[in-house]
Amino acid sequence: MIDYYAVPSPCYVIDEARLRKNLTVIKNVADRAGVEIILAFKGFATWGVFPVVKEYVSGAAASSVSEARLCFEEIGAFAHTYSPVYPERDFNSILEYSSHITFNSLDQYRRLFPLVKKYGRKISAGLRINPEFSEISHGLYNPCSPGSRLGIIADDLPELPAGVEGLHFHVLFEADSFALEKVLKVVEEKFGRFFPLLKWINMGGGHLMTKEGYDTSHLISHLSDFRKRTGLHVILEPGSAFAWETGELVATVEDIVVNNGISTAITDVSFTAHMPDCLEMPYKPKILGATDALEGKPTYRIGGNSCLSGDVMGDWSFDKQLLRGDRLVFLDMIHYTMVKTTTFNGVHHPSIGIWTMDNQFRLIREFGYEDYRDRLS
Ligand SMILES: Cc1ncc(COP(=O)(O)O)c(C=O)c1O
Repeated sequence: MIDYYAVPSPCYVIDEARLRKNLTVIKNVADRAGVEIILAFKGFATWGVFPVVKEYVSGAAASSVSEARLCFEEIGAFAHTYSPVYPERDFNSILEYSSHITFNSLDQYRRLFPLVKKYGRKISAGLRINPEFSEISHGLYNPCSPGSRLGIIADDLPELPAGVEGLHFHVLFEADSFALEKVLKVVEEKFGRFFPLLKWINMGGGHLMTKEGYDTSHLISHLSDFRKRTGLHVILEPGSAFAWETGELVATVEDIVVNNGISTAITDVSFTAHMPDCLEMPYKPKILGATDALEGKPTYRIGGNSCLSGDVMGDWSFDKQLLRGDRLVFLDMIHYTMVKTTTFNGVHHPSIGIWTMDNQFRLIREFGYEDYRDRLS
């Protein structure tokens, strides 16, 4: 159990025990299904805990030069790289750090594949396909919405260009294995004729295999059937599943202001800067020990410390009145949250720490004025 008062505020604190639990599930799926599961850095890239991650997985999916380099330097492996576009000026560095490069369009493939081919080390090239089938209802996260810029649709791929060894699709979001089963059926119908010509297929992310209730046995049997039937090397690159429910954002109530009968507890963190998905998605996070607003209970609007008027996320009720200095613990604030933070307003960026297996807090990183200053000029 994390002692949140033993953690400095504000701070993202990763629970090593919960992280290891997720990593064990992921490794077990990979081993039993005979597939490769790599970490999508876009969802979680807190490299201070990679020594733990590397005990279970040996690769990562990158979407930029910086992510590919982080994979090379901090995981010690070449990256599986996919980006919606590769600017030509970046491409030499993409080659330097990647083992697999997936192209989003045929034009990018035609222009850049010659560089892959003549590179001094073998790099496997792939294409991102768009099966035009996704169950994601939230537009911001749906790569298959009509007119999407992501991936090549079947009508535009009458034949496989020479040199392509793999196909990549990403159409799931916090999904179960039954959603994957439906997607695979469509992918096979539309692109299955290319399978005998390929070496690998990358099924992207969105496989939330560490969520309570996820049927990993179904995933394992479906993946292993697919692998045996097609002979393809199967790669999955989830992000969220790695860090799902592995840690919290610890904050402190700094002030309580009252306006028109509404009490707002202003904290030392910001929704827009430190929990941006709460406003972007949007979703209301859980706070330890609090509920949605209930009549008759001490109720507060929780506010961030930036000047944005909308840096609030609704109302919560507590068992007792909040006081200045009280800790607020925002649950499940590791995946996507940590990679998306900003230094907006120059507000203090939360530290990063780990709650270790022997129940100690270890500070990994603190942030200061230089981090704010150096991003701006
Ligand atoms: C290409 C690709 N791969 C992997 C992922 C990781 O997805 P998730 O974190 O939902 O597992 C994403 C997420 O957007 C993605 O776009």
